[in-house]
Amino acid sequence: MTTHGPVTPGPARLVVLVSGSGTNLQALLDACADPAYGAVVVAVGADRDGIEGLARAERAGVPTFVHRVRDFHDRPAWDAAVADAVAAHEPDLVVSAGFMKLAGPAFLARFGGRYVNTHPALLPSFPGTHGAADALAYGVKVTGATLFVVDEGVDTGAIIAQRAVEVLDDDDVASLHERIKVAERSMLVESVGRMVRSGWSVNARRVTVG
Ligand code: GRF
Repeated sequence: MTTHGPVTPGPARLVVLVSGSGTNLQALLDACADPAYGAVVVAVGADRDGIEGLARAERAGVPTFVHRVRDFHDRPAWDAAVADAVAAHEPDLVVSAGFMKLAGPAFLARFGGRYVNTHPALLPSFPGTHGAADALAYGVKVTGATLFVVDEGVDTGAIIAQRAVEVLDDDDVASLHERIKVAERSMLVESVGRMVRSGWSVNARRVTVG
């Protein structure tokens, strides 16, 4: 069993990784504006330029860094560079919020157990990059969002929290994903807040917060 936190003294330091619109990041930034939340976003990292997620960080005055895979000679070099960039901000918790890259061994060696990812489906159903589309195509009536502790697999880590979302008859991928994202953001904000304020432990696949 590994136990983390609660993080003291002062607010927990979050580094958030993004690849896209950054609405999950924005939800965390908004939550962190209240000192009682117990966390502060100290940096935002990305694997690509020109995304709204980075613009959101810049508007909030949060430092950013970008490491593109194609600028490194191989994937392990990119992974090590991302790990170094994250480590420079001394995070208590690292949040993948729509970050569309898998963490490699160097990253997990440093941040294993305190690197979490949000996924737009009820894992273990529909892992991978098309969680909402795959659920819709399969015809499930309920899907949702999952927050988990990242491990070496693709969306296989120990589950911290889940939220269910009904699939409506007239849903398309966009409408379903948007509704999932509403649930996802509230799950993320609530869970990260509880984790940093109360600590968490991981015992095999069972995560306990507080
Ligand atoms: C989220 O649904 C996330 O789970 C998925 O991509 C979406 C990112 O949304 N991987 P945003 O960038 O936080 O708006």
